[in-house]
Amino acid sequence: MLTKTIYASTLLSAFAIAAPAPQVPGYNDAEFPLTVAQPTGQPASTFGPGSQIAATETTAPSAPPRRSSVVTGTTSHGPYEGTATTTGAVKASTTLGETIAPLPPNPTATYYNSNGQLQKPAPVPYTPNGGLGTNGTEPRYMVNSDFDYESIQLGLYQEWIELDLFNNGLAVFSPEDFIEAGLTAEDRDYIAFMANQETGHATLLSNMLGETAAPQCTYNYPFTTVREFIDFNQKLTRWGESGVWGFINHLDSREVGQMLSQSIATEARQQMSFRQMLGLHPQPFWFSTGIPQSWAWTYLAPYISSCPQNTTRLAWQNFPKLLLNNPNPNRVSPNDTASDEKVGERIADPSNSTIPADESCVNVNTTGYSCGPAIARNRSEPLTFPGRLVNLTWEAPGVPVGPNNSYVTSTNAGEPAFVAWVAQLNLTYTPLTITGENVGYTYQPAGDVYEGDPLVNGTMFVAITDSDLYLTPFNLSMINPHVVALGLYQAG
Ligand SMILES: *[C@@H]1O[C@H](CO)[C@@H](O)[C@H](O)[C@H]1NC(C)=O
Ligand SMILES: *[C@@H]1O[C@H](CO)[C@@H](O)[C@H](O)[C@H]1NC(C)=O
Ligand SMILES: *[C@@H]1O[C@H](CO)[C@@H](O)[C@H](O)[C@H]1NC(C)=O
Ligand SMILES: *[C@@H]1O[C@H](CO)[C@@H](O)[C@H](O)[C@H]1NC(C)=O
Ligand SMILES: *[C@@H]1O[C@H](CO)[C@@H](O)[C@H](O)[C@H]1NC(C)=O
Ligand SMILES: *[C@@H]1O[C@H](CO)[C@@H](O)[C@H](O)[C@H]1NC(C)=O
Ligand SMILES: *[C@@H]1O[C@H](CO)[C@@H](O)[C@H](O)[C@H]1NC(C)=O
Ligand SMILES: *[C@@H]1O[C@H](CO)[C@@H](O)[C@H](O)[C@H]1NC(C)=O
Ligand SMILES: *[C@@H]1O[C@H](CO)[C@@H](O)[C@H](O)[C@H]1NC(C)=O
Ligand SMILES: *[C@@H]1O[C@H](CO)[C@@H](O)[C@H](O)[C@H]1NC(C)=O
Ligand SMILES: *[C@@H]1O[C@H](CO)[C@@H](O)[C@H](O)[C@H]1NC(C)=O
Repeated sequence: MLTKTIYASTLLSAFAIAAPAPQVPGYNDAEFPLTVAQPTGQPASTFGPGSQIAATETTAPSAPPRRSSVVTGTTSHGPYEGTATTTGAVKASTTLGETIAPLPPNPTATYYNSNGQLQKPAPVPYTPNGGLGTNGTEPRYMVNSDFDYESIQLGLYQEWIELDLFNNGLAVFSPEDFIEAGLTAEDRDYIAFMANQETGHATLLSNMLGETAAPQCTYNYPFTTVREFIDFNQKLTRWGESGVWGFINHLDSREVGQMLSQSIATEARQQMSFRQMLGLHPQPFWFSTGIPQSWAWTYLAPYISSCPQNTTRLAWQNFPKLLLNNPNPNRVSPNDTASDEKVGERIADPSNSTIPADESCVNVNTTGYSCGPAIARNRSEPLTFPGRLVNLTWEAPGVPVGPNNSYVTSTNAGEPAFVAWVAQLNLTYTPLTITGENVGYTYQPAGDVYEGDPLVNGTMFVAITDSDLYLTPFNLSMINPHVVALGLYQAG
């Protein structure tokens, strides 16, 4: 049954021929258990230095300004009620085709090293031949194509909402609300720190774009409790991070890729921290997946209510939304989640946290069942499992979304036939059973990335597609013409 549901899946097994020999066996004869005497006696109760490290007077050079001040007010204002003055994604004056035709591998992609020696003359000592941007050309930290420009502009839209969102939660909930969710004053300071990280990220991306870098917008959030705020944050940072992994290695400007990876590594930590605050396993996967830009934009756009006049618009597609029966991470027993326990109708809306106390895991102290904030949780009953029924409902295209309702959902796909699961290094398809107009179901697939790493886990991505096209992480965006609708799955 389970294996039958897997129709096609990606693999990089061509690389298997190059797999190294098994690694050295484990060490033997070590003296275990180690016995190390721990200090005994009273712990410290008075604080402050008892001695001084020598120091000299130092002054910092003046810091470069950030583009945004630190916003601490409540800025969300609900849905946009006006009429858009512009509609649709930015389009080029000419569009050359409907799909990208597949090509054979690049003829220059042939390097293979079978003797462990350097194959070409080294340019200088200790420096093997090759690499890009290694021949002395001066780095230029600016976008270098429309692709780069639109990708970084999308990234900037994402950084701006994160800046507003993290501060907004701190502004609308009281310290007591946070305590009820198990989060202390130090945790709130940490969230505020993460918001400040976003001011730096937004400044960096703005600088790499130039004068048309988009400004901050006004947002419309789905949460009404701290748990729902945290749940929304872990979802939003998931697609923020995955959206960048999807395009970063396709950028024309390696310099921009360098800076961007140094900011997205920080965002990855934010995502993990928000999962920990929700009492989820911090990182229940071995690889963080990448998604196309139009996917990230589809997830993000519904939460932007309006942008200032003249805000640079984006060229990416907004796909129709796909809703499904996500498990509620606030439940002791995620199996008991009712068919619709989200707090709203947008794709990434968080699960309802105001369930009856005797069904909630937030204040449970039993190992395996608690979902209060922790470094790591180990749920005895996982959020989801292979073979789980996943009910699907999707929208027809043509719906206004995003800032000022000025973008419109669209799809170029044919008849819906498959459910695509994008997690880790994999794209896996299961068959879609249609039960009504834009309604159907499938079952969560089984399968591993490598043995011991079940591929469907964490906060991940699902799409309804018209075909089971074979794609791998570096050509995943070729899925876009086949996407009927797009959803988010809380697998673990
Ligand atoms: C997942 O991806 C890995 C790496 O590409 C591949 O080896 C594996 O077969 C894939 N697993 C499934 C179930 O598709
Ligand atoms: C230096 O490398 C870049 C690619 O990183 C290449 O475009 C450029 O032509 C090279 N310049 C010279 C002088 O070889
Ligand atoms: C979007 O709405 C804002 C606030 O009402 C307005 O200032 C702006 O001009 C609108 N932009 C567009 C493109 O309609
Ligand atoms: C929008 O851009 C136009 C053309 O560049 C400019 O004339 C106008 O003043 C700008 N409006 C705002 C509100 O910035
Ligand atoms: C949840 O449902 C799955 C599949 O029906 C089942 O295997 C598992 O035991 C259930 N868990 C609990 C705690 O009932
Ligand atoms: C899935 O949908 C069917 C009806 O199509 C319904 O009977 C069932 O309860 C739903 N299950 C879940 C878990 O939402
Ligand atoms: C959340 O669940 C509670 C209890 O079932 C219910 O009263 C409340 O209306 C739900 N909230 C939302 C936003 O659906
Ligand atoms: C769980 O532990 C916390 C902190 O120790 C305590 O405040 C709470 O009352 C405990 N909850 C239960 C249900 O025992
Ligand atoms: C955590 O989960 C693993 C795998 O499900 C299990 O083997 C282990 O016993 C669990 N640990 C605890 C402390 O429950
Ligand atoms: C996801 O990972 C967690 C933590 O390792 C594990 O308990 C759970 O069973 C995994 N879920 C699936 C569907 O494999
Ligand atoms: C995507 O890449 C894989 C190789 O990793 C290739 O086998 C597949 O044909 C490509 N898909 C398309 C549609 O080009």
